[in-house]
Amino acid sequence: MSTMNATQLCRTSLRARWPSIPCRSASNKASRPPKSSPKPVLKQRQSPSQRRPRPQNPNAHLDSLESSSAKRGHGIPPRALTFLGITALTISTYCGYLYTSYRNEVSKAQKLNVPRDVSDRYNTTASTFDADVAISEKAMGLGKKRRDLVAMARGNVLEVSCGTGRNLPFYELGERRGTDQDGRASVVGCRTVTFLDLSPQMIAITKEKFEKLHPGFAGVEFQAGDAGSVGPPRISRDAHFDTVLQTMGLCSMPDPAATLRHLGSVTEPTRGRILLLEHGRSHYDWLNRILDNLAPAHADRHGCWWNRDIGAIVRESGLEIVEEKRWHMGTTWRYVLRPKESRS
Ligand SMILES: C[S@@+](CC[C@H](N)C(=O)[O-])C[C@H]1O[C@@H](n2cnc3c(N)ncnc32)[C@H](O)[C@@H]1O
Repeated sequence: MSTMNATQLCRTSLRARWPSIPCRSASNKASRPPKSSPKPVLKQRQSPSQRRPRPQNPNAHLDSLESSSAKRGHGIPPRALTFLGITALTISTYCGYLYTSYRNEVSKAQKLNVPRDVSDRYNTTASTFDADVAISEKAMGLGKKRRDLVAMARGNVLEVSCGTGRNLPFYELGERRGTDQDGRASVVGCRTVTFLDLSPQMIAITKEKFEKLHPGFAGVEFQAGDAGSVGPPRISRDAHFDTVLQTMGLCSMPDPAATLRHLGSVTEPTRGRILLLEHGRSHYDWLNRILDNLAPAHADRHGCWWNRDIGAIVRESGLEIVEEKRWHMGTTWRYVLRPKESRS
């Protein structure tokens, strides 16, 4: 029996049927009369070891395309054109998608009938609040803004609308000699801190975090209550708070100007300060339009009116402005305020 396998058999029979035909171009060249070209220069034959392999360019066809398109005049290589085309298409598709989603959200938001007081929303969102705001706060660098604000707190401190205690890591607890913001010798640090929030769920999270972060600090109190009716310090014999602090709170209150006015009344009249880090309307009309259009849906879901004019609220409160700063196209506001009648 033959030991030839099927592949070998097949190859042999094919060769028999299709004898090799000389390459057409080679045979043509052989039969063509020699051209009347300049005398060929006789090259010395190289031995195989002398022959160096020619560097091959795998993109030679693209290079010739690029140079031909460059010659045609626009000078942009086809690969770059393709890339630009795909990028433009992707961006325009994404913008179209964003615009359609935005229009849908606006039409839904405009149909909602949302009450002015949405502060009860925090009772249900307390457990997810930190995770919900973490990414946007990081992207906006709010950690540093919180740190800088809390660094100004001294004496008997009241933090209202404290939420889940996002400012806790920045407190300097306990008083010591140091220098104030203007470099003058002063007593710095917090003697006592009172944390207050309307939502019992939020204040419970602050308490739990505080006890882990600052175990053994006795000068602390937690209250579930309304910032608009908070009394003088319970934890100290002083009649006023030296510092009242609030971050991102004015957006959630039904009457923020009245609440601020009340906070002025519990602040020490001479050296006391009210420190605010808030978010609200922008410098730009186009951005304010977006905030306005989506405000009802945002308030209904998150308990926060993000389109408030923080400057107007502060002016309406009657407190004296010591310092005002804005970032993020004007949407982040920082204020240092003091009770109006104080002169120091
Ligand atoms: C947007 S959260 C801000 C929380 C926190 N201050 C922060 O910076 O992450 C607003 C908080 O204000 C609280 N709040 C709303 N109205 C309040 C009021 N009248 N008195 C005290 N807290 C209030 C809410 O319960 C909520 O915890």
